[in-house]
Amino acid sequence: MRAIVLAAGYGTRFKSEKPKVIHSILGKPMLWYVLNTVKSSGIENIGVVVGYKAQEVKESLGEFEDVVFFHQKNPRGGTADAVMSAIDMWRSYEGYVLVINGDSPLVSSETLKQMQRYLIMVEEYEGFKLGGLVLTSQLPDPTGYGRVVKAENDKVLRIVEEKDASHEEKAIKEVNSGIYMFYAPYLLSALFKIRPNEKTGELYLTDVVEFFVENGHEIRSFMASDPIEVLGVNTRWELALAENVIKLKLVRFWAERGVTVHSPETVWIEPDVSIGEDVEIYPGAILKGKTKIGKGSVVGAGSVIENSEIGERVEVQPYSVIRKSKVDNKSIVGPFAHIREKSYIGEKSHIGNFVEVKKSKIGDRVNAKHLSYLGDAQIGDRVNIGAGVITANYDGKKKHKTKIGDKAFIGSNSLLIAPIEVGKLSYVAGGSVISKDVPAGALVVERAELKVFEGKGEAKIKK
Ligand code: UD1
Ligand code: CA
Repeated sequence: MRAIVLAAGYGTRFKSEKPKVIHSILGKPMLWYVLNTVKSSGIENIGVVVGYKAQEVKESLGEFEDVVFFHQKNPRGGTADAVMSAIDMWRSYEGYVLVINGDSPLVSSETLKQMQRYLIMVEEYEGFKLGGLVLTSQLPDPTGYGRVVKAENDKVLRIVEEKDASHEEKAIKEVNSGIYMFYAPYLLSALFKIRPNEKTGELYLTDVVEFFVENGHEIRSFMASDPIEVLGVNTRWELALAENVIKLKLVRFWAERGVTVHSPETVWIEPDVSIGEDVEIYPGAILKGKTKIGKGSVVGAGSVIENSEIGERVEVQPYSVIRKSKVDNKSIVGPFAHIREKSYIGEKSHIGNFVEVKKSKIGDRVNAKHLSYLGDAQIGDRVNIGAGVITANYDGKKKHKTKIGDKAFIGSNSLLIAPIEVGKLSYVAGGSVISKDVPAGALVVERAELKVFEGKGEAKIKK
């Protein structure tokens, strides 16, 4: 089986500069889901028809290396014109081609597999080649879709677009999904018989059905197991609906693998995320990109984790943001912590409230629990970072590094002016401004001397 994905259209109803098919669903272009499904159904030979802003569409599919692109010269030519544009792919192919609209992200690979099996069954048990199979569904409200017109014996006669449908045809509830499998040699003879639609001038792929029937090649309908599978995304509202459906499907996938997701409708898990057993995810959490969450970890309410690796039994407390970083086993992050790019947090460390970490390597059992900025720092094991400690890494022109040795104690509200090295087991007294290296084991204090004027406070207050 080969596949042709139609993705050349403008998507006028989207009201967008960007091609419709690359609008995103959970961080991936809509088209990504179509290709992913086609591939997972076992089809390896995939062509994508591009036209409107072809370059952008191609770039959005960088992940699919072996996809072949075909250019439709006139992206308003219609769906049949799009299939013709990819003719090099199927002209001399003696097998079935799957034609699928690029705006159908909800069809499942299971359904595509069932359709392939059905075609084989017909050949084996009925002894002939079906002309084609159209994926359909019965919708309570079929508005906007092509209707499947059948004879009394249930044979498919043709597909009529809503605009061209008679009153009776509009009442038909069985709709065309825009997903078909055609026997390529029969498609060749039928496709070129299509004439432009009188109202729009487009060549409709749906018109091909009539010509198959005329040539004596039977087309059958195949009912989708879930009606939502046939949703065509023509508007932004339909995009939102599709996103919700995919989102819940992914949550369900993880739930079946031992992950607890509280209030799943509020949680966002992108398709490349992977999650270990016994992970617990709280409302409003957002897991993006290639994030990995290790076994037994907790992701607190409202936290955002992007392209990061979270170890096992880590606690990400509410409203923390972690990007492009790694947090090792049994650490605690948050609430309200911000771990920025290229950071590493060792095991059993605690990065707490309003602490920002950037491009820093932090060892094991480090505590930085409150109100700190740690940038371009390298911090050893068992270091204590007091409340309000700042590594001043930027001198207005360049960024500099801070190094802190094992078991050092950095008192509250200290300022470490980089480049600087603080030796192991050294003690920086609270409130110090340190601009020189601190030797290992030393105690350093940098503070103006305290003056006490007995009784003067009370006098001032009472005045
Ligand atoms: C199409 C079907 C309709 C079906 C519906 C299911 C036709 C004529 N109608 O209608 O029966 O119920 O899908 O969702 O096929 N495209 C191109 N080149 C073009 C025109 C479109 O590549 O010249 C692509 C679009 O990018 C899109 C897909 O084909 O991904 C479908 O086009 P669209 O205009 O959305 O068709 P519908 O009106 O939804
Ligand atoms: Ca459509």
